[in-house]
Amino acid sequence: MTTPENPQSVYEAVGGEETFARIVRGFYAQVPEDDILGPMYPQDDWEGAEQRLKWFLAQYWGGPQTFNERRGAPMLRRRHIEFPVNREAALRWLELMRNSLDQIDEETIPPTYRHAIWEHMERAAAMLINQPD
Ligand code: HEM
Repeated sequence: MTTPENPQSVYEAVGGEETFARIVRGFYAQVPEDDILGPMYPQDDWEGAEQRLKWFLAQYWGGPQTFNERRGAPMLRRRHIEFPVNREAALRWLELMRNSLDQIDEETIPPTYRHAIWEHMERAAAMLINQPD
């Protein structure tokens, strides 16, 4: 957490680029085979999708502004309107992300940071629901 005593970003504190790459790699390793999420994603651009999520998360937690540079302002809700995100899909997204985070040891992502990252994901997933179950 950024504090006056420790002006380090969460991004740096959890290991920067490599850690965010691991988070999204573990997530996307499960998506293509997922019955709910799999069909929603661009079947010919898994690598691109993985990169975009990594850029976003890294930027959100204080890393390089690559997402803004390459994709523009996040506007996540608008970017998800074209996908059928109901509560079930949001819960599944979180489940796969949870699996991925759980594979990363506590030394790399200490509990405080893990909690903050998770809370943000839960909030974002809830905000992206755009249709009833
Ligand atoms: C709630 C369930 C969710 C579903 C079903 C979902 C689905 C998708 C799909 C199908 C894409 C297109 C993949 C691509 O081409 O980039 C996408 C993109 C993206 N999603 Fe999600 N998503 C969900 C939650 C989230 C959450 C919680 C976040 C952030 C914490 C997030 C961040 C992003 C970002 C940054 C992109 C790339 C946008 C772009 O560059 O245009 N998504 N999502």
